[in-house]
Amino acid sequence: MIVVDSENRVFTLHTQNTTYQMKADRYNVLLHTWYGPRISGGDLSYLIQYADRGFSPNPNELGNERDYSLDTLPQEYSTCGVGDFRLPSIEFEPEDGSRLADLRYVEHELRRGKYSLEGLPAFWGGDEWETLIIRMEDASAKMLVELYYGVLEARDLITRAVRVINRGEQTVQLRRCASLCLDVQREGLDFITFDGCHALERNLNRSPLRPGVQSVESVRGTSSHHHNPFVILCDHSADEDHGLCYGAALLYSGNFLAAAERTQLENNRLLLGVNPYHFCWTLFPGESFTAPEAALICSPGGFGQMSRQFHRAIRDNLIRDPGAGKRRPVLINNWEATEFTFNAEKLVDIARSAAPLGLELFVMDDGWFGTRDTDLSGLGDWIVNRKKLPGGLEALVPRIRELGMSFGIWVEPEMVSENSALYRAHPDWALGAPRRPQSRGRSQLVLDFSRKEVREHIYRAMKDILDSADISYVKWDMNRSLSDVWSAAASADRQGEVFHRYVLGVYEVLERLRRDYPQLLIEGCSGGGGRFDAGMLYYTPQIWCSDNTDAIDRLRIQYGTSFCYPVSAMGSHVSAVPNAQTGRSVSIETRGVVAMSGTFGYEMDLGRCTPEERETIKRQTAFFKAHYDLIQNGDYYRLSDPFQDGPYTAWAHVSPNKREALVCLVSGAVRAASPFRTLPLRGLDPALAYQVNGQGSWPGDVLMEAGWPLPMFWDDYQSMQLYLTAV
Ligand code: DGJ
Repeated sequence: MIVVDSENRVFTLHTQNTTYQMKADRYNVLLHTWYGPRISGGDLSYLIQYADRGFSPNPNELGNERDYSLDTLPQEYSTCGVGDFRLPSIEFEPEDGSRLADLRYVEHELRRGKYSLEGLPAFWGGDEWETLIIRMEDASAKMLVELYYGVLEARDLITRAVRVINRGEQTVQLRRCASLCLDVQREGLDFITFDGCHALERNLNRSPLRPGVQSVESVRGTSSHHHNPFVILCDHSADEDHGLCYGAALLYSGNFLAAAERTQLENNRLLLGVNPYHFCWTLFPGESFTAPEAALICSPGGFGQMSRQFHRAIRDNLIRDPGAGKRRPVLINNWEATEFTFNAEKLVDIARSAAPLGLELFVMDDGWFGTRDTDLSGLGDWIVNRKKLPGGLEALVPRIRELGMSFGIWVEPEMVSENSALYRAHPDWALGAPRRPQSRGRSQLVLDFSRKEVREHIYRAMKDILDSADISYVKWDMNRSLSDVWSAAASADRQGEVFHRYVLGVYEVLERLRRDYPQLLIEGCSGGGGRFDAGMLYYTPQIWCSDNTDAIDRLRIQYGTSFCYPVSAMGSHVSAVPNAQTGRSVSIETRGVVAMSGTFGYEMDLGRCTPEERETIKRQTAFFKAHYDLIQNGDYYRLSDPFQDGPYTAWAHVSPNKREALVCLVSGAVRAASPFRTLPLRGLDPALAYQVNGQGSWPGDVLMEAGWPLPMFWDDYQSMQLYLTAV
């Protein structure tokens, strides 16, 4: 609920459990007065204290009044160069070269429903949303800044976006435009980020905010494996069930900056948005720029509640799932089984061995097109390789469908190999500056998606593939970071737009394909989880979580991912052992337990499995299908932290009405004389009694407080699932 006190110019956003407030003061400065647990409201600006602080300047209109400084007051959207020395939200440069932005409140507007953003991903929905737009202006440069707020009360979700409009007569260079600025007047906060590298994404890192700026960012053109555009600010004492935390996600798949500043007065500012690195956007008179959307959830009750609210909001109001309300298929992918070495017979063999086990979608991965026999060539030539697939997709797909399976295909549309017909015809379509040989990544170059003709060509090529056969799934891969970012289509003074235009270009092609093929399921991928962000989820309901399919490493990867993103978004497969990334061998049971807490599938040659393994796989797929709704749409509870190297990692899926739960556990490395342990459960109804795996009747409060006794594990990495139903 949005409450506007027009007389006092106080704007209060209430969600189910939180309240957010700002106020335009007598100087038209928009102050941030509160974000925290839900309170009744009123004008919370009484909380703001005014005092003269050395070296904190005062706005000109105050004369010699020294108690008021932009440098010490909590700002809703921070200014630049006019007296606030903390992180600026915005920076622009008119023709006089000044880089000053002094934003003052002009007006506001309330709307029922949710705003949308042209060409950018955004949360969506109907009348369950309310929108507030606050207009601010820098009067000298005649720059109008619109702050958008979307409120989804039941999810505690506040979305934010920013539009900057050049209302003057000069050309202005926009050099920075954050999507979110949050000044938190609170002591003792930690900053949590999710970091890593290829094949080891989203490790949780937590550290107390120290004086100065701490930040994570991407300058790789994608959101990256290395840092995620989702961060948390929380109380030192916050844990899964207690403490205040603020989660902030950017709906963006390119360079981002997430910066937290502990200020001179021991307050905090969080900034999230497009990275100012190599960013400069020209705004001619009348033109505007829209910064991507950011999503905020504050939880007064710890990380668990925050994550579950993000999961619900992403599932119900961000992802546009072609199979919404239906079960997504359990898939078999040939990549880890064959890499590039396959032909039609091999693919059909794999599919044939998978179909009787309950697998429903066959995905043909990399290597089916052009001269793609290794990763040195072929990208860009989206034409079936007839040596491998003699009859083309027209012959292959019906053979897969005859087995009762649907068919999916791998593509990497943003890339080009130098050894390809496309590159030979259009070398300038690859990003790269004149007289400067480009760096290669995985031996490939990046197509310049900021260019219309490139996008058009790729869009047509994708359509030709999709129209040539009955294809229900696409894996959209992207296997390198962007370097040599220079576009032949942009003038010298507009090269600072190319990184962002590239991302907009990717979104545009995805959106067109989505419109043309509304039933097509697209799985995002960037060498695994290199572009696992809320922006991508708008177009691709699931994203391959990591190229690391080792079940034990996946415990951490999926744990970190779960802080923002739902199980239904996490691409997760069982692969062969010893694992290709770690050399570790883990039982098929444990691999299944871990993979089915994601979108679930297999990525191995099932024809090579023993009869016992095949029986297990059959049981696993049947079990997953039977409990699909609980796993994919239930509430997710983390029961332990795998980064603590404890004796086990456990989590639970609980149905919204709490009448059903699936508890999953994987033990750690075995040790002698291991103590007797119990696993305290979470998320149950204390007043209900539950059967566990069809037996007995235990009260929910007992299972949560006293826990469930764990068996003795006689080997490393054993697993256990408990299925609970209310009796
Ligand atoms: C990287 C992906 O993450 C893998 O799953 C696989 O599709 C390869 N690319 C294919 O080149």
